[in-house]
Amino acid sequence: MDDGGAQHRLGNDGAVRAFVPAVDSRKIGSAGSVTLVGAGPGDPELLTLRAVRMIGRADAIVYDRLVAPEILALARPHAELFYVGKQRNRHTLPQDDINALLVRLAHEGKRVVRLKGGDPFIFGRGGEEIETLADNGIPFEIVPGVSAANGVAAYAGIPLTHRDHAQACVFVTGHLENGTMNLDWVALARPRQTIVVYMGLAGLSTLCRELVAHGLPATTPAAIVQHGTTARQRIVSATLATLPGLAKAAALVPPTLIIVGNVVRLRNKLVKFMREPAPDSAFALR
Ligand SMILES: C[S@@+](CC[C@H](N)C(=O)[O-])C[C@H]1O[C@@H](n2cnc3c(N)ncnc32)[C@H](O)[C@@H]1O
Repeated sequence: MDDGGAQHRLGNDGAVRAFVPAVDSRKIGSAGSVTLVGAGPGDPELLTLRAVRMIGRADAIVYDRLVAPEILALARPHAELFYVGKQRNRHTLPQDDINALLVRLAHEGKRVVRLKGGDPFIFGRGGEEIETLADNGIPFEIVPGVSAANGVAAYAGIPLTHRDHAQACVFVTGHLENGTMNLDWVALARPRQTIVVYMGLAGLSTLCRELVAHGLPATTPAAIVQHGTTARQRIVSATLATLPGLAKAAALVPPTLIIVGNVVRLRNKLVKFMREPAPDSAFALR
């Protein structure tokens, strides 16, 4: 079968490997490799089987702030663990240094797992990391993870799409730059669309104000979820007009995910019958 120059899809261990473009073997300094692994949004049970296996065979694990200790506990006893942080505006290691660390460990011949919260390709800078690996001729794989949008919405009882309420769902980052959010407000303020905002807590007032200024009714349902899928999960469910004040009163802390759209209203009906997947404290604020 012609697989377009890709390496074999089956690894020595019999596992199906992600597509890896053929690399120039002269550029590979050693047998090291890097696997980008999505660790999911918090609940360790949301890890994929493939993620568990990759973590369990790694020589070195480079991990972010939002990776749960239970997930790190799956590492082999002698695996080297490197914490590289990543908190809004407080990166423990700059991205260039993280890239350089991955390259160095792979050149040392190690099986490296780059463990990232959620999914590596959703606001996870996975693209930049694999570009560096490709530039350095280092073979890599990607193991997708449950992104915060999927996991947090599911545990909060908010379907992101629904035939009657939302036919589209957009993911945006609400990161503030110089006090503003550089978003396409006209495209966001469309009816029948769910908006999921990552990293939006600091800019919550700006977000709600701009969406209303660009045409969404102030009564549009909106929720913010702190530490979704974990025992620290808290949910404030309100409207665009009332959410900033209620979230401030609740003194929420990152990580938080904001969900805007009529689907949020469904939660009131759905959670009555929903078994809580997270521990009891998860539904502290209704
Ligand atoms: C740098 S982004 C990484 C996103 C990640 N790659 C993903 O797919 O979920 C980190 C942001 O994801 C969101 N997030 C991640 N885990 C979360 C959780 N358990 N509860 C709420 N928001 C979460 C927050 O907005 C947080 O600031």
